[in-house]
Amino acid sequence: MKKKLLTLLWLLSAFGASAQRANYNIIPLPREVKVDTTQFFTLSGGMGIAYDAGNDECCRIASFLQQWVKELTGVSLELKPGDRSAEVRLALVSPAKPKGKKKASKSPSGNDLSSSNDNLENYTMKVTAEGVEITAYAPTGLFRAVETLRKSLPVKKDSGREVLLPFVTINDQPRFAYRGVLLDCGRHFFSIDFIKQFLDVMALHGCNQFHWHLTEDQGWRFEVKALPELAEKGSIREKTVIGPARMRIYDNVPYGGYYTQEECREVVRYAAERYINVVPEIDMPGHMQSVLHVYPNLGCTGGPYPVSPNWGVMREVLCGGNPETLTFLKTVFGELCDVFPSPYIHIGGDECPKERWQKCAKCQSKIKELGLTSEPNDNGEGGRGSQDGRSAENKLQTYINHEIEQFLASRGRSIIGWDEILSGGLTENAIVMSWRGTKGGIEAARQKHRVIMSPNVYAYIDHPQLKDYSRQPRTTDSYIVSCSKMYSFEPLVPEELTEEESHSILGVQANLWTEHIAYPEHALYQLLPRLGAMSEVQWCSPEQKDFESFKARLPQLKKLYDRIGVVYCNEVE
Ligand code: ACM
Ligand code: ZN
Repeated sequence: MKKKLLTLLWLLSAFGASAQRANYNIIPLPREVKVDTTQFFTLSGGMGIAYDAGNDECCRIASFLQQWVKELTGVSLELKPGDRSAEVRLALVSPAKPKGKKKASKSPSGNDLSSSNDNLENYTMKVTAEGVEITAYAPTGLFRAVETLRKSLPVKKDSGREVLLPFVTINDQPRFAYRGVLLDCGRHFFSIDFIKQFLDVMALHGCNQFHWHLTEDQGWRFEVKALPELAEKGSIREKTVIGPARMRIYDNVPYGGYYTQEECREVVRYAAERYINVVPEIDMPGHMQSVLHVYPNLGCTGGPYPVSPNWGVMREVLCGGNPETLTFLKTVFGELCDVFPSPYIHIGGDECPKERWQKCAKCQSKIKELGLTSEPNDNGEGGRGSQDGRSAENKLQTYINHEIEQFLASRGRSIIGWDEILSGGLTENAIVMSWRGTKGGIEAARQKHRVIMSPNVYAYIDHPQLKDYSRQPRTTDSYIVSCSKMYSFEPLVPEELTEEESHSILGVQANLWTEHIAYPEHALYQLLPRLGAMSEVQWCSPEQKDFESFKARLPQLKKLYDRIGVVYCNEVE
């Protein structure tokens, strides 16, 4: 009897071991997966990972793979540079150049948004009796492939010795070149350690653009060496509103924090190792009350101004007629360019009420000097909608955008702005980030401007993800952005844009605003698993997308979330 029981236990454990199979039904789903589940390659301890000897980037990618295989499965692999007989082989190959086809982009991080998608992010992964062969045109592709293999691995409870990899051929490439996530570090400050975790999570989902929102009415977070007081004083608000704004109840606790340039460089380096570009944002000329606190002369009224303890849209903005405003902005953007190598710099441009500008002598005199006139149907009133319409004040904002665009162009950069920058007329090369729905993006694409779609009702992950508000932490609660809603977004808006116009759509971004999100765990809860849904919008072709299939693939990703220790919402609606 005892012997029988032992045999049964042995059989169960043997069955358990054989059940440790990889599964390529991952998120985001690769472009093409041809799997043969009847045959396996057995990956076991002591096997090797080969890469191009002497190539530091490939070495780092191989080390990531080694670390992740160990972390998820317990299997220890060895790094074997240049050893073509190793069981896992990472190799760079030259792109085939069929006649008439574009060359692959030269951007090492796949961040050349002007290139088509036959770029350096593509990869092929084959599992055969000879092991795992991963090829790509560039390290970026190898990295994306290694993330794919990571997500395919079983998450083992025991420290196993082997994993079964079904034979497969995966050919993969992302749909969009720009696959972004915004983190607002103005309303709440997040540590560099958390930013790194955030970047890890982004990379896991194939995202390649970290939009770092660095400045807000409620706090300035970027060190500017020429203006040391800006971060020292502008980063601290004396108190923060709690509960509904109309109640005016405050915590009376000073809140602050900023990033030194050294820390920002560390973030850039860390992101680049994960093939993520950091797009820094200095939001101007609105959302600048933290600046006005330090430099009240830059406001239309002269202040004094507190670093805002309230959320919302502030009427106190940079004075558009004061020449010192442009001097200030050029100093800030100059240092920003020194720290961030991104080809795109976000200049904000949203929610800049024109109430002050309408009454300010300096602003009005600048409007006169520039010969700016209001056109019919203007809406020059203050308030949230004031940026719509071709008022002289909105054109003054365009003048500022133009000056900064020229300045940044001299540093080899393009500007991105929120869709309000359309109102006074778009500057020559501006990329529009469409947040108030897709309307701004559609209009910009029709004007042949490049566009990033980030419409609030689909892409704002500060909003609740479940219908029942009581089952989730409190957030910005005017509407729900469920996982299925986010998943359903089609960025090319085919009912509005012609095929040619749709080529202007560079990609899609999810935005995590943090008025009501003060802690890393809450930020991750808002992010996951919705970033999984967003990643399929960003990566997959429309024919591949299927929400039921997404939900069926989610448990495997959640096991990985659990293993790497990130918080997520456990329900999907
Ligand atoms: C925004 O949400 N104000 C861009
Ligand atoms: Zn003014």
